Amino acid sequence: MKTIAVLTSGGDSPGMNSSIRAVVRACAHYQIKCIGIIRGFSGLIENNTKVLSTRSVRGIINRGGTFLYSARCDEFKTTDGRKIAHKNLKDNEIDGLIVIGGDGSFTGALKLKQEFNFPVVGIPGTIDNDLHGTSHTLGYDTALNTVMDAIDKIRDTAISHHRLFLVEVMGADAGYIALNSGLAIGAQEILIPEVNMSFENLINSLKKSKKSGKTSSIIVVAEGDKTGKNVFELASKIEETLPKYETRVSVLGHIQRGGTPSCFDRVLGTQLGVKAVESLIEGNDGNMVGIDNGKIIFTPLDKALKGKSKINKELLRISQIMNT
Ligand code: F6P
Repeated sequence: MKTIAVLTSGGDSPGMNSSIRAVVRACAHYQIKCIGIIRGFSGLIENNTKVLSTRSVRGIINRGGTFLYSARCDEFKTTDGRKIAHKNLKDNEIDGLIVIGGDGSFTGALKLKQEFNFPVVGIPGTIDNDLHGTSHTLGYDTALNTVMDAIDKIRDTAISHHRLFLVEVMGADAGYIALNSGLAIGAQEILIPEVNMSFENLINSLKKSKKSGKTSSIIVVAEGDKTGKNVFELASKIEETLPKYETRVSVLGHIQRGGTPSCFDRVLGTQLGVKAVESLIEGNDGNMVGIDNGKIIFTPLDKALKGKSKINKELLRISQIMNT
C-alpha cells in the first residue's frame, strides 16, 4: 500500500470530517500517500483529486458536512462510468480506496471490488443508522441530538396551543432516528416502517390520551412509515376522525444532516478512520469497519448492506408504557 484514496459519498453526515482527518493522519503515520477524491464517485469519474497532508485536515474535526464534498452519482451506476473510475484509480497509482457513506455508497464500493478486484474498505457514514455490522453509523448520534433539540422546541408551542404535532424525521426506509428520538422526547406515539401500528391503534391511543387529560401531544413519524400516504395526509385523516384535535405538521428535513458533530461521532470517526487504513495495509479489504459494544468489527460489504434490521422493538414497547 503506497497510496490510499478517500472519498465521501451520498448524504453527508456529521463526523465524516473526523474520519477523513483520521484516514489522512493514519496514512501519514504509516508513510502512505493519501489522496482525497472530491465529490464522491463523481470526482472519481472526473478525476477530481487532491493530495492530502496532515496539515490540510487541521481544524475540521469540529465541522459538520464533509471537507471533501459529497454527491449522489448516477454515472457510477453504469458499467462505463465504473470503468472510467477504475482507470483513474490506476492512473493515479492508487492502491486502496476508503469509501465513507451509506448504503448507496457501499453498493458502489462493492462493485469496484467485484468487477475489478480493487481493494476497498467502507466506513459507515449516514445519519440513518441503517447499515448492519455496526451499532452506530457516523452522524446518527448527532442527528438524534439535533432532532431532540428541535422537538423540545416544538413541544413548547404545542403545549401553549394545546395542539397535536406530527413531526417527520429522516431515516430513509428505517426508523432508527424516529424510535430513539421519539423515546427521548416522550412522544405519544412513534411511527416507524419496521412496525405497522395501524391507523386505528393510533386513533385509540390519541383518544386515550385526551381522556387522561393530556392537552398536547407529539407523534414522531419516520419518513419511511406507511401509516398514511405521507405525514400531511395522515394529519388530515386524524383531524377528520378526531376534530377536537388541532393538528400541525413539522417536517424537520435537512437540518438533521448538519451541525457540529457530537463527541461520540468525532471519536467514532477517528477510530474507524484509523482502522480502515490499517485494514487496507493488512490486506483485509472488501469490508465495512464498524463498532459493536465498543469493539471494532469488520463486516463484508454485501452483509453490511443486506443484514437483518437491528431495530430494537423493545424500545417501542417501553415508549408505550411511558404513555400509560
Ligand atoms: O441517507 C440520508 C438521508 O438524509 C435520508 O435520511 C433521506 O431520506 C435522504 O438522505 C435525503 O436525501 P437528499 O439529501 O438527496 O434529498
